[in-house]
Amino acid sequence: MTKQIVTPWEVKGDIDYNKLIKEFGLSPLHELPDVFNKELLFRRKVIFAHRDFQKIIESVKNKKKFVMMTGLMPTGKFHLGHMILAKQMIFYQKLGAKIYIAVADLEAFHARNQSLEESRKIAIEQYITNYIALGLKPENCEIYFQSERSKDGKKANAYYRLQNLLAKHATFNEFKAVYGSITPGKMLSALLQASDMLHPQLPEFEGTIPVVVPVGADQDPHLRLARDIANRIKSPKFMQLSSTYHLFIPGLKGGKMSASDPTSYIALTDTPEEATLKIKKYAFSGGQNTLEEHRKKGGNPEKDVSFQYLRTIFEENDTRLKKVYDDYKSGKLLSSELKNMLINKIRPFLEDHHKERKKAEKQLKAFGLD
Ligand code: TRP
Repeated sequence: MTKQIVTPWEVKGDIDYNKLIKEFGLSPLHELPDVFNKELLFRRKVIFAHRDFQKIIESVKNKKKFVMMTGLMPTGKFHLGHMILAKQMIFYQKLGAKIYIAVADLEAFHARNQSLEESRKIAIEQYITNYIALGLKPENCEIYFQSERSKDGKKANAYYRLQNLLAKHATFNEFKAVYGSITPGKMLSALLQASDMLHPQLPEFEGTIPVVVPVGADQDPHLRLARDIANRIKSPKFMQLSSTYHLFIPGLKGGKMSASDPTSYIALTDTPEEATLKIKKYAFSGGQNTLEEHRKKGGNPEKDVSFQYLRTIFEENDTRLKKVYDDYKSGKLLSSELKNMLINKIRPFLEDHHKERKKAEKQLKAFGLD
């Protein structure tokens, strides 16, 4: 097993999630109220850990207002891995949460050397259009750019003022944990991300309110920084942030999805034919080397990428998924048949999604974007 590294700037090795929970000091997600289990990401433990999630559970139970806040780094194409977060935005919005989405254009500028114009274009064409096509609604939703928080001066001032207040309560050493190497720009980005997470609680926004930040486990250092700083601030008093952590969806060839390698992911703008080809050619199989061996020993669904995509996104029905799992493990189901099951789900999904994207383009205005 290769050594596991999980930081905001690097994810490497076979990831042992129990070890992550221990190292980061997260809590495993156990029993949840039924409404959460309707979402397969919760039901199947794709969302596997949390900090302070009880507050959000209580808010849902008591029908109290809460905020879901998250951010996107606008680089590369929007792919299946990004759907995990998009599905959570839509899920929380349906539960009645107010949704805040930060486009991390300033972070991309400092950490990835990408211009604000380029970030804006990628954020809209790739990320936001896909969020809308997947079901995000303009009501109760604020999408903003870090470089342009709001046209309302009072709000914008409050957001950038908070970044400065946070700076006052942070130490130089804390930043290393967030970006590894520190530059003045990366320090500003880390502070601005903390402001992203905390500013919904300012009087200019929602006032004191529970905020949940769903993230991939690599983003936890950002949360620790924001939580630690928030704890030190007496006024305004922040309610501690809640957060949840989801698994990394494997790339087609195993390993991770990498924006620079199109054969490592399926993008939501891929044609059904492209997706089919990629699955047939690249999807890592958990099967045995020969047919005889496969029938005898069975396949390994945990390692099989097609099975993982069915489990995390495409097969909603638990009974059917269980049958696929059992049949593959027993050797009854072949790798090629398993790939075809995934293809038969992804093709109609993409066809439909591309139509929804066309409609979504016309809705950008309703989100204050165009
Ligand atoms: N750093 C995040 C990323 O790399 C993007 C981000 C910016 C973010 N602000 C945020 C994530 C606030 C969660 C909450 O993807």
